[in-house]
Amino acid sequence: MTDAAIDPNASASADDVAILDVRQLKKHFAIRNPWGWRTGSLKALDDVSFTVRRGEILGIVGESGCGKSTLGKTLMGIHQPTDGSIVFEGNDIAGLSPSASRDLRRHLQYSYQDPGASLDPRWKIRRALHEPLVVHTDFGYDERERRVRDILQAVGLPAGHLDLYPHEISGGQQRRVGLARILTLHPSLIVLDEPTSGLDVSVQATILKLFLDLQKQFNLTYLFISHDLSVVRMICDRIAVMYLGKVVEFGDTETVFESPRHPYTQSLLAAIPDIGGRRITDTFLLEGEPPNPGDLPSGCRFRTRCLMAQPRCAESEPELRTDWPDQQAACFFAE
Ligand SMILES: Nc1ncnc2c1ncn2[C@@H]1O[C@H](COP(=O)(O)OP(=O)(O)OP(=O)(O)O)[C@@H](O)[C@H]1O
Ligand SMILES: [Mg+2]
Repeated sequence: MTDAAIDPNASASADDVAILDVRQLKKHFAIRNPWGWRTGSLKALDDVSFTVRRGEILGIVGESGCGKSTLGKTLMGIHQPTDGSIVFEGNDIAGLSPSASRDLRRHLQYSYQDPGASLDPRWKIRRALHEPLVVHTDFGYDERERRVRDILQAVGLPAGHLDLYPHEISGGQQRRVGLARILTLHPSLIVLDEPTSGLDVSVQATILKLFLDLQKQFNLTYLFISHDLSVVRMICDRIAVMYLGKVVEFGDTETVFESPRHPYTQSLLAAIPDIGGRRITDTFLLEGEPPNPGDLPSGCRFRTRCLMAQPRCAESEPELRTDWPDQQAACFFAE
């Protein structure tokens, strides 16, 4: 593995294997008082940089509210970034309007955290699956129907489901339909936002296997957002750990799980009981609440919950350090 491949701060060069290169990405939401006046900003993403290599599964983990979905939606163009660049397959798509970037983004797709939200309850599954092809291609009905049936089969659903409404199928089947809808556009990179949450363990296992099968079949790269560290450990090649809009640790999955460097990652991994090799909870257990993201502390944003905090941590913000092979951490005192 090269340093450039592991280093989230290294820009991808032309002959790099990067499919996505995100630099200093910011997404700030306005905080308004009851009269609608802007009183501040909530930094949901604050200088996020990383590179995704073609064909890998990159996990994004962190507590609720740390900015994982905002990251996925900003990459997808559902949110306009406040600043920064998003180079996808060689094109910077960050500043483009949704219509200008539609074709460039066609191969970058976002799978919603709530699968029901991406399906119109008034549309049968057939219409939901035809619709992306109507928007993006000039195929006639028969060609669309043929492709839709092929994809439906690839995600393991019978053709009879085309005539059902979303409420007539299970949560696991809704996930499969959501995935089928995306796959009709031949994406190269899919952002999967909490793709196993709300599913029972046996359904989770079949959905995970499906992701891996589809990855091979369609040459996919995944950005895998999840609370479930056992799932992340099982399927991700590298992970980015986020805390309040920042990547605080990044690296090879096994290396980070074996020897986490950042105190935040250490607390996350230590706080989750591990029984028989399987973590028994999918929520993080960490002392205290994160600070209000609209009113961040000075310096390191983790210092108010950090057992290792020193005066220096209040003075300036630590950058990701590259002192370890295959791993980076944004902490002055990490060893
Ligand atoms: N459209 C929006 N307007 C204002 N604030 C927002 C908006 N979307 C997200 N936020 C805020 O941005 C922060 C990050 O939210 P986000 O949904 O990205 O978190 P998350 O990591 O996906 O959390 P979860 O694990 O609960 O899904 C939160 O403080 C949230 O309240
Ligand atoms: Mg989310």
